[in-house]
Amino acid sequence: MDGSACSSLALPQFCLGDGSSLDSGVSFGSRRPVVIFESGVGGLTVAKHILKLMPNTDLLYVADNLWFPYGSKPGSAIARRVKLLFDELRLLVNPQAIVVACNTASVAISNAGSAAEKGDCIRISPPVVEAAHLSLSKKIVILATSSTLENSAIKDAIAAERQHAAVWPIASQIMVGLAEMKLAGGQVEVYKLAELVSKHLSDEERKSVDTVLLGCTHFPHLVEELRQVFPAALNWVDPAYHVALELQARIEHQTSHTERPARLAAFTSVEGVREYSQVFLDNGFNQTKLSYKQHRAMVMME
Ligand code: DGL
Repeated sequence: MDGSACSSLALPQFCLGDGSSLDSGVSFGSRRPVVIFESGVGGLTVAKHILKLMPNTDLLYVADNLWFPYGSKPGSAIARRVKLLFDELRLLVNPQAIVVACNTASVAISNAGSAAEKGDCIRISPPVVEAAHLSLSKKIVILATSSTLENSAIKDAIAAERQHAAVWPIASQIMVGLAEMKLAGGQVEVYKLAELVSKHLSDEERKSVDTVLLGCTHFPHLVEELRQVFPAALNWVDPAYHVALELQARIEHQTSHTERPARLAAFTSVEGVREYSQVFLDNGFNQTKLSYKQHRAMVMME
């Protein structure tokens, strides 16, 4: 999901799938949604758990597809971008919480003093230590973007675990692209993933891995294919469920209302969004004002 801005203004704009802007005619009223933030479709792997645990919560999925991909950009630039977007979202929809469903953005804003965080953020990040503890063979692969793996806290955690385990960090932007392509209806060839992995591990090492840490929210979309690449892996570590639990603990008392909850997806660029409309619909998110209004009309009739 990549494209041009719905406006050339420096201030971020949030558009719906039909190009209309989020703030014209679409509102959550006095209700405060939870924002699920990502660069593309990766956050849907987190949204899935949130939808299951908190079916009554109003959700606004925001994909910064104008800036996609995040993984090849430096953390400092991402932190500045995310601050701009979050400040605007806070003004627009006054969210109860912002779930940072992108490891790359999350580690970028975790550095002390990041202005993007205002106490309303719940951040996903790769649980390196937990993954290492789960591994019996002490053979661990960490899949993430290069920006995430260049983060100093992540680097330090990997270095510490390397004292008693074999840890292979694999940075792959190509895998992010493959996940986007798969969700847009394309087919992922397992040999392509195997080729990527073979640049980091010998065949023997690959077959000895018992723990794979999915340190990018796009990668759970590829887990079927990845299982074939790491046939001995028993632990597939995905922190998404814990993020949903953390959110539930934070907002539980505010989620009960009798109307059907609002679910909307917004983007920072309209280009390329249409091909994903079915994906968002299939995952419970309306993408246009019309579908949102129809959804609300159905609510009124119920
Ligand atoms: N899904 C994002 C993550 O969890 C990365 C995607 C991108 O590179 O934009 O890190």
